[in-house]
Amino acid sequence: KQSPIIAPSILAADFARLGEDTAAALAAGADWVHFDVMDNHYVPNLTIGPMVLASLRKYGITAPIDVHLMVKPVDRIVPDFAKAGASLISFHPEASEHIDRTLGLIRESGCQAGLVFNPATPLDHLDYVMDKLDMILIMSVNPGFGGQKFIPGTLDKLRQARERIEASGRAIRLEVDGGVTADNIGAIAAAGADTFVAGSAIFHAKDYAAEIAAMRKAIG
Ligand code: DX5
Ligand code: ZN
Repeated sequence: KQSPIIAPSILAADFARLGEDTAAALAAGADWVHFDVMDNHYVPNLTIGPMVLASLRKYGITAPIDVHLMVKPVDRIVPDFAKAGASLISFHPEASEHIDRTLGLIRESGCQAGLVFNPATPLDHLDYVMDKLDMILIMSVNPGFGGQKFIPGTLDKLRQARERIEASGRAIRLEVDGGVTADNIGAIAAAGADTFVAGSAIFHAKDYAAEIAAMRKAIG
């Protein structure tokens, strides 16, 4: 297991002052920026694209930006995110016609690649693409909105994913996304996650630093 990463989801930030709010979360101790891209097609909500990512880079955000694509199709937008300054790009297998090709495309574009599993999506794809993955993202809510409740069955799925990572012997991160709070993050870490996305828990807190510190303490 690798050192824990806290990745605030800027979906819960103030979009009218996104640069400042993102910088504030990083100054408060966050490691990465989680960047949720929704297209009102693969998921029923619409958010931000490569231009906004490029603006964050221009504003001076140098931390890794973890792009979570909830879009269909996937391939055609990958080079745009790479050019805009994405560090890691993850996508849902249901949204790509050719999962292996999409993973290759992301890596050829110079980014790290991740595959995302919805609450009811089995982990079977992992049997074939482990060697092309830098991260596995387990959704602990149905994608599309922030502020939802953590689905408890996710803990068992995290354990299964952790077993597969250990068996592969590769340094693949295991990320969890949805409903993560300082109260449940300890159990989530114990189930095998090492990379934690949190949107509302951080951005709706009065004191980002205190919230992130509470999360780190609970992770142990
Ligand atoms: C949901 C997004 C999440 C979301 C998490 O589709 O992928 O990243 O922003 O928000 P919270 O932490 O509020 O559940
Ligand atoms: Zn996300």
